[in-house]
Amino acid sequence: MCNPMYFDVTYSINPWMDPDRPTSPQTGLAQWKRLFDTFVGLGHDVRLIEPVPGLPDMVFAANGAIVLDGKVLVARFRHPQRRDESASYLEWFGRGGWSTVQQAEHVNEGEGDFLCTGGEILAGTGFRSDPRAHDEVREFFGRPVISLTLVDPRFYHLDTALAVLGDNEVMYYPGAFSPQSRAVLSERFPDAILAEEADAAVFGLNALSDGRNVVLPRGAAGLAVQLREAGYDPVGADLTELLKAGGSVKCCTLELRE
Ligand code: ARG
Repeated sequence: MCNPMYFDVTYSINPWMDPDRPTSPQTGLAQWKRLFDTFVGLGHDVRLIEPVPGLPDMVFAANGAIVLDGKVLVARFRHPQRRDESASYLEWFGRGGWSTVQQAEHVNEGEGDFLCTGGEILAGTGFRSDPRAHDEVREFFGRPVISLTLVDPRFYHLDTALAVLGDNEVMYYPGAFSPQSRAVLSERFPDAILAEEADAAVFGLNALSDGRNVVLPRGAAGLAVQLREAGYDPVGADLTELLKAGGSVKCCTLELRE
């Protein structure tokens, strides 16, 4: 995770970001700290990367890389406003403990667009990550990659429209995907939890599951009920301040898989 010390909305690269709308650094920081405490309380080992002044979106650590089997593919951002974040991730992972660390060749926004199920990698495109990045990820990690196309600009990253709950379980908002991708998803995950638009619109799918507890934005009340019915324990988090930049629980969290 990355402390939102320098968080702000100073530019707009997704429909949520309005630089004319004021942000509160104190509220953002307090909300983020509660998320940190929630993860620690659930028993997770949380590592931190140092925030960099002038990189206000760096709080969204999910975008920094994809980490799987101890291998690290560091992001290449689409927008110039975020490009310098990659250097911090290269440096952080370069400190050791990882078998391979390299930066993606094609535009690749890390776990914003690449989500790992048990065996395969679900890969988003349409707004941010380049479709060529899907092939690059397949080769780099040697895992099957399922390409999915996003069509609603509010859900510009895969992790705003879909969350992996367990090895073979996901939840998603069908309206965020092209008809073809919707068909792929319903074939691959016939028992998926399907989110209503109201829950997707408060970023309810931007959630993090450990297989049992699912931390998700508190506003997604309907999704919390669906999760409980499916046997999960929903844990609400308030990240409304960071949502002004188009991010929430999952965006703040990069998973480190050894
Ligand atoms: N303002 C950031 C951007 O548009 C938000 C990133 C959210 N991160 C995510 N994993 N969806 O790039």
